[in-house]
Amino acid sequence: MERAKIREIVSKMTLEEKARMCSGSDFWHTEEIERVGIPASMVSDGPHGLRKQDMEGDHLGVNDSIVAVCFPAGCATAASFDTELVGKMGQALGESAQAEDLSVVLGPAVNIKRSPLCGRNFEYYSEDPYLAGKIAAAYINGVQSKNVGTSIKHYLGNNQETRRLTVDAKIDERTLREIYLPAFEEAVKEAKPWTVMASYNKINGEHTSESRKFLTDILRDEWGFDGYVMSDWGAVCNRVEGIRAGLDLEMPSSKGVRDKQIVEAVQKGELDEALVDLAVENILNIVFRYKESKDASAVFDRKAQHEFSGEIAKQCIVLLKNDGILPIAFEAKQAGKVAFIGKYAKTPRFQGGGSSHITSFDVTSAIQAAEDMGFKDKIVYAQGYDDKEDKTDEALLAEAVETAKAADVAVIFAGLPDAFESEAYDRQHMRMPDCQNRLIEEVAKVQPNVIVVLHNGSPVEMPWIDKVKGIVESYLGGENIGLAQMEVLSGRFNPCGKLPETFPLKLADNPSFLNFPGEGNVVEYREGIFVGYRYYDTKEMEVLFPFGHGLSYTEFAYANLKVSKDSLSDTDTLTVSVDVTNSGKVAGSEIVQLYVADPVSDVIRPVKELKGFAKVTLEPGETKTATFTLDKRAFAYYETKINDWYAESGEYEILVGASSRDIRCRAKVKLTASKKLPVFYTIDSTFCDVMKDEHAKSLMGPIIEAGRMEEVNTTQGEGLGSAAEEMNEAMQAFAPIRNCLSFGNGSMDEAKLQAIVDKMNQR
Ligand code: BGC
Repeated sequence: MERAKIREIVSKMTLEEKARMCSGSDFWHTEEIERVGIPASMVSDGPHGLRKQDMEGDHLGVNDSIVAVCFPAGCATAASFDTELVGKMGQALGESAQAEDLSVVLGPAVNIKRSPLCGRNFEYYSEDPYLAGKIAAAYINGVQSKNVGTSIKHYLGNNQETRRLTVDAKIDERTLREIYLPAFEEAVKEAKPWTVMASYNKINGEHTSESRKFLTDILRDEWGFDGYVMSDWGAVCNRVEGIRAGLDLEMPSSKGVRDKQIVEAVQKGELDEALVDLAVENILNIVFRYKESKDASAVFDRKAQHEFSGEIAKQCIVLLKNDGILPIAFEAKQAGKVAFIGKYAKTPRFQGGGSSHITSFDVTSAIQAAEDMGFKDKIVYAQGYDDKEDKTDEALLAEAVETAKAADVAVIFAGLPDAFESEAYDRQHMRMPDCQNRLIEEVAKVQPNVIVVLHNGSPVEMPWIDKVKGIVESYLGGENIGLAQMEVLSGRFNPCGKLPETFPLKLADNPSFLNFPGEGNVVEYREGIFVGYRYYDTKEMEVLFPFGHGLSYTEFAYANLKVSKDSLSDTDTLTVSVDVTNSGKVAGSEIVQLYVADPVSDVIRPVKELKGFAKVTLEPGETKTATFTLDKRAFAYYETKINDWYAESGEYEILVGASSRDIRCRAKVKLTASKKLPVFYTIDSTFCDVMKDEHAKSLMGPIIEAGRMEEVNTTQGEGLGSAAEEMNEAMQAFAPIRNCLSFGNGSMDEAKLQAIVDKMNQR
């Protein structure tokens, strides 16, 4: 419906009706106002399946939701680095939402994985904002192609579950712009989500649900968002402030309490009614967009989606380690017995707890999949552990060890139990349950051929890493994960996922370690922009597995890195291409990653940042060219002096490789900034800064030359031996220009110096 028509409807509504429209009618619906022809619409979680609750909702997942297909969670889909695939998953979700009459799917969840401990990391995509933004945009485009909306969440700074409703995240502006905002920015600009969900927490002292800066200035004015902003469930504190800031819809219903507050504020002249009109207009814009494009023919084909979920899951699996043990030759006649050890072989852990929890249509375990593939006779099973509590069951352990010993290979299905990762609380540590770690150690003592298959939404420590030959990371791969695992284990599918996050050796290595989850209601993001590999790689730290790591059953050779020009202006774009050849024996896909580095910079920057990735599928011997386009943003940092992105003039490096630590090709380009940063001189400006600037140098240089700095400094430096020269240079360079007064020849006074400084500032 056109905006003009919507405005006409709003103009016919009473103030009370408009206030009512600004919050839900119940847990999941927007209000219906028949008198003016406004229909109700339903929203539902999200993100990796439908959690449609028919009755009055209970968002902690106690009440049942409809049977739906549980797709791989965000942690897994990001590991695919495959925007086309994620787009298709979005289409499937959109189609089923149409069939279930849902106007908005509450997702994607794109908060940055700041700490491995965040309880909701399984729903989130990455420690890297570029990757998170691209995956989010693909998801949104997919869902919305079916005329169903999305709600990108949780905007903003909701990177922990501890005290998520009250915590105040202290994040500096550059860090917000470079790390925490870009995934939302990319998604809003590129995929235009119909709605945005404002998070519970505060940022720098202000509730995000009351922040005009985030909800209007940045979201609408800078990025062009044109849908409605809804609160996370219960994230409203001061409703009137929320309306002023740009929070259109409160969820769930406040049962009339806040409607009254809105009405009273308008009547008292404290709230401009035009702002209420705008909120209603924003909501109706989406309500009608959905209603008018309703697809009555849509079907929720659960069986087909279950199969598709397995297809996605296999592209998300990351082969972390392979000392020649994988794939397992299940098909070969002479292949011996394979012991499947661990509860998750039979009842896999494939999703996390809380509002994203799906009542799954069907669950395929690895054992089930192995039987379906005809490998029943090859497999022996032992449960090994129970995941209800972290306690070794000696009988289960002994049975598992015996079973493993008698077999030729042991595949241990391990990972984090449900209670270790969920919405509403954070993990206490980065370890797997002790009983599972012990099981792996004990099995490895009797069986040299051990493979560990992991189920987890976020990194775990691996004390047994050197005692096993293979590690397969399944993440939380959705209800058909067993099929995907079997396809990878058997080599029917060649794994191609890559880690969307670094696995540190231990929790204490993580940059947020000292400041997570904060003190009381305050968490300071003191690591700033150094999140994930930006920290580990810059500090050259040893890690368990680096960002972007993932093995294959084949090998890929990189060659012919080409840049379209050697030097460019920040208004140009640069095309980068690289040839990738499958130099191994089986078909496979490689995720080619492009990082940009600015080795010499006036500001503190990470050693490299991801600015492009591409998935290339190749037959043995085949070569394809991956191409990337880089613009100013790929080279820039956020400069708070100009409140904008800035790419300094100078030499940059283009790094292309298979992970952040496996760079295969490099090229250099020179970039020229089209604008200079504003400078403002005072008598405290240093000589070295002044001498870098031609204009300032022309005014100040002669005075510096004429002064007696050198003489003074040489005298002071006497007796320092070979260090004297360096010391003199440093003292000159870092001295403030007011030193002309202290050490000059007496011809300069304060007024004269200030006059020169004023001229230096005029250009
Ligand atoms: C969660 C959201 C979810 C909402 C509705 C909240 O507690 O933070 O992600 O969409 O509940 O279930």
